[in-house]
Amino acid sequence: MNVETFEEWRNEARRLLARNVAPDAVSFGSVSEQPLLDMLAGGEHDTDAPIETASHSVPKEFLQLAETVAYHRDPQRWNLMYRTLWRLTHGERHLLNITTDDDVYQLYRMQKSVSRDVHKMKAFVRFRKVASEDDVERFVAWHRSDHRILRLAAPFFSRRFKAMHWTILTPNESVTWDHSELTYGPGVPANDAPDGDALEELWKTYYASIFNPARIKVETMRREMPTRYWPTMPETKLIPELLAAAPQRVEEMIERHEGFAETAVKYIPSEFNLASLRVAAAGCRACDLCERATQTVFGIGPADAKVVIVGEQPGDEEDLAGQPFVGPAGRLLGQAFVEAGMDRSSVYVTNAVKHFSFVDRGKRRLHKKPSAKEIFACRPWLEAELLALRPEVVVCLGATAAQVLLGRDFRLTDQRGREHVSDWCPRTIATWHPAAILRTVDPARKQEMFTQLVGDLQQSIA
Ligand code: URA
Repeated sequence: MNVETFEEWRNEARRLLARNVAPDAVSFGSVSEQPLLDMLAGGEHDTDAPIETASHSVPKEFLQLAETVAYHRDPQRWNLMYRTLWRLTHGERHLLNITTDDDVYQLYRMQKSVSRDVHKMKAFVRFRKVASEDDVERFVAWHRSDHRILRLAAPFFSRRFKAMHWTILTPNESVTWDHSELTYGPGVPANDAPDGDALEELWKTYYASIFNPARIKVETMRREMPTRYWPTMPETKLIPELLAAAPQRVEEMIERHEGFAETAVKYIPSEFNLASLRVAAAGCRACDLCERATQTVFGIGPADAKVVIVGEQPGDEEDLAGQPFVGPAGRLLGQAFVEAGMDRSSVYVTNAVKHFSFVDRGKRRLHKKPSAKEIFACRPWLEAELLALRPEVVVCLGATAAQVLLGRDFRLTDQRGREHVSDWCPRTIATWHPAAILRTVDPARKQEMFTQLVGDLQQSIA
């Protein structure tokens, strides 16, 4: 029985269950693991619809699990999913609670592997501007994932780089975003990750075979343009107008500038753990800060830390010692850990930027806030650390760290102490940076901020 997507499997499974076909009487497979060009453009699925059979309904938890597992590369996944569905609807309704069961164990293992692969893709896809024959700026990235996750991850990129024209090429499948719609195309096989000119060549071949630049999204324009402008303008003129009218224009310009600047991603080993990341980060030259700083100050703490603390960047003392938070701000943080009842040695402490940024004042080196470009260049190190650590909670100290993980709109004064889901951790909290507390002159306010820092740290371990 041929199925290519979760929806197709779900429909077949529903039909088979209704006919009472046992798992050993059926075998699922994919004729081709190469989905067709226009199949399922957009990739949104309705997992809320329960599979109903004559006499059973299926737990929602199973549907969510199966939907993720459907992206796993193992050809046996469809059979495993059907066998589990059968068991759930034939007397083992609570099967998913038995995590030692072989089938359940396999499903959760596969779900974890797919989720990890999606995180990796979100962290490591970097776009490069390519020459194009029309007036539109186009960007392309290459990525090799372990599983067939492009459709799962693509909506994230369309949100993050929504003002761009971009294509992500992978060996199995490709996707193009044109401001309004995701369009999937065939994969582009390559032996090694193509860089520079090789990527450009690959893109040209792909573009020539797939993309139709004359296609203009009239409906999207109608939706987004004030209608009073609409009737008088030729479609082609509307494209720049549409961009100019977008409410987040300025945001996107910044994102666009940063999104394609030099980053540390090329210094990150393809397989890594905290130890190999630390070694690789010591040689990072992704931005100019490395020229004047003494050394890279990488994160420190146990690899199984449940709590990760993210600061802004090392200061003077950290730069010399090669360890985060050992100077005045670090001492105040230590005091806050004690008051919050936290064991500092169980926490992983790091920074959004790994080199000291400073201006000279006579013999002193004064902290200088890192630029957006430097923060962006360094971001892959933090993302890789979080990928390796998979913490339960991340506490961002100050707005810089918070904006890296929670988005540029994050405002510490409004949102301090609240829990957010970030791409890196289900519980992400932002609180005062200890240096901001040290700088506060008014004693009452200073005390209040310190109490809030302690409270937020307590919340992180609650
Ligand atoms: N401030 C930070 O944000 N990080 C450090 O490591 C030290 C001071």
